[in-house]
Amino acid sequence: MADGSVDLTNWRSVNRANWDERVAVHLKTSSYDLQPLRSGRGELHAIEEDELGSVDGLRVLHLQCHFGVDTLTLAQRGAQVVGIDFSGPAIEMARSLAAELGLSARARFIECDLYHTPDVLPEPASFDLVYVTWGAINWLPDIEGWAQVVAGFLKPGGKLYLAEGHPTALVFDDAFAMPDNMPGLYAPYFHKEALVIDDPRDYADENAVLKNSLTYEWIHPLGKIITSLLEAGLSLDWLHEHDSVTWQMFDKLVEDDQGMFRWPDKAWLPLSFSLKATRVMASDMSGGCQVKP
Ligand SMILES: C[S@@+](CC[C@H](N)C(=O)[O-])C[C@H]1O[C@@H](n2cnc3c(N)ncnc32)[C@H](O)[C@@H]1O
Repeated sequence: MADGSVDLTNWRSVNRANWDERVAVHLKTSSYDLQPLRSGRGELHAIEEDELGSVDGLRVLHLQCHFGVDTLTLAQRGAQVVGIDFSGPAIEMARSLAAELGLSARARFIECDLYHTPDVLPEPASFDLVYVTWGAINWLPDIEGWAQVVAGFLKPGGKLYLAEGHPTALVFDDAFAMPDNMPGLYAPYFHKEALVIDDPRDYADENAVLKNSLTYEWIHPLGKIITSLLEAGLSLDWLHEHDSVTWQMFDKLVEDDQGMFRWPDKAWLPLSFSLKATRVMASDMSGGCQVKP
């Protein structure tokens, strides 16, 4: 735009077209291996397996669930789950997998935009756990609005589990490589505008060439993510920074025997982070932590 700002008129439809196309691509990759799920023993990544704890008997809301692999894994572990995603083909595949696995009674899937979820799923304060992982919040323009959505669905005492790429790593990219081939800086950490990216590659399939290659993405600084959650009425249980991540974020990373990607020698930068936060009981909320009206 003439004033240097990014035209966001079509961010949602542009991103949705990109994600709709990725569904068929991901169904063919080993990164989304459905075999464990089909054998009744779906697997999460090593970080969630270590940190999440039992979900047996919990009502779980999985935001940006893609085609439901993690959602259905949680259902196999005894959770009653609702998965939401704005991609029609992803939700169609998730429903078909749920039917195939005999999980339709425990797993419901809804096609909707993240910010419209409270309208489409009018079940406020009714979930024990909101689950958000790996490449979700970078697709959202408004992190404060996201935190309000999360808080609105949690029962008092309910938990958010979030595992994501670390924003300090997300500002580096191999395309801006340094002379020593380390990834170089491509966006400032405090970049507020959308990053408009035209990249036909897919993180799960090195041979993929996406036709819908344009995306709008956002970098949310760690402090802003946490402050948004506190302001929405959650308290922080813990925050972990990790030297591994679930995808080949940089060419230099090597895959370990748990399928996590990490630095070959020195752990230069944190590659991911995870946190657990609790929806504060109404009576515990001090003035600074009230949900905004
Ligand atoms: C990298 S995937 C998340 C992967 C997920 N952790 C899983 O369980 O496979 C990102 C997902 O976010 C969804 N998404 C992106 N923007 C969205 C939005 N505004 N509302 C709802 N879903 C969105 C995409 O369709 C995609 O399925």
